[in-house]
Amino acid sequence: MPRHPALGGGRIVLIGGSSGIGLATALAAAESGAGVVIAARDGARLEGARAKIAAIGRTPVEAHVLDASDERAVAAFFGRIGGFDHLANFVTAAPDQAVRAGMGLFADTTQDVLEAVFRNKFWSQIFTVRHALGRVRRSIVFVTGQAHRKSLPSYTAAAAADGAIEALARGLALELAPLRINVVAPGLIATPLMATLPAAVKAAFDTRTQAQPVPRMGAPEEIADAILWLMGNDYATGAVLEIDGGYKLT
Ligand SMILES: NC(=O)c1ccc[n+]([C@@H]2O[C@H](COP(=O)([O-])OP(=O)(O)OC[C@H]3O[C@@H](n4cnc5c(N)ncnc54)[C@H](OP(=O)(O)O)[C@@H]3O)[C@@H](O)[C@H]2O)c1
Repeated sequence: MPRHPALGGGRIVLIGGSSGIGLATALAAAESGAGVVIAARDGARLEGARAKIAAIGRTPVEAHVLDASDERAVAAFFGRIGGFDHLANFVTAAPDQAVRAGMGLFADTTQDVLEAVFRNKFWSQIFTVRHALGRVRRSIVFVTGQAHRKSLPSYTAAAAADGAIEALARGLALELAPLRINVVAPGLIATPLMATLPAAVKAAFDTRTQAQPVPRMGAPEEIADAILWLMGNDYATGAVLEIDGGYKLT
């Protein structure tokens, strides 16, 4: 019995589905019998992900190279792929290592870095929703985080973008009904993103997760499960599902 039978026979678009939480979601969606469309910038990594999902052998898989921070490219992508049932967007706050390295304390962070973070994490959501409208039939899930509820040093821009996305989700849930709009807010999750962080940041994350009621980083599959549950539940809209091992409680 698939874990998310309500998704079987549907078609799910996952922007940033080539790595981490997005790839785990794509694999679990395919296991549940959904067709999957993944999109991301790095063509080689995308092809590796496509092959892994295709190896499940149950449903169609498509992979498209896309920079979700480029609105024209986003418009062309949705024009190409046709109608689908659910959408989720996994793009990260930092678009690249240079911006990631520039995400220091607020007083040391340049305007260019702040804008690059908002462009990748927040504006890419606006672009994908705008051009998915009329094509997406059932639901959209945004992925935020927890730094806007319990602060992390050097994460002010990323936290502000996540807070804005949750506000956007609530407004869209009202305006776009019967399309359902939900959010999954993960705590600290062991994905390839972690390997790109400076050692001091990673060490601080390890200390925080050890203090949680569930004293470890989450697995990408644990977040994917929540995303697919929200997609499949027809009564869930405007919800923020926090899956964080109790991150905020300590
Ligand atoms: N890991 C955590 O601890 C954690 C915690 C809270 C929230 N989150 C959020 O969860 C989401 C997924 O994170 P993750 O840890 O799974 O990261 P990840 O493993 O680095 O995966 C990020 C995915 O987004 C794609 N991407 C990034 N920028 C893009 C762009 N401009 N256009 C298209 N695709 C883009 C990447 O592919 P390309 O680079 O090839 O484009 C990749 O497929 C992010 O929104 C992140 O902020 C993660």
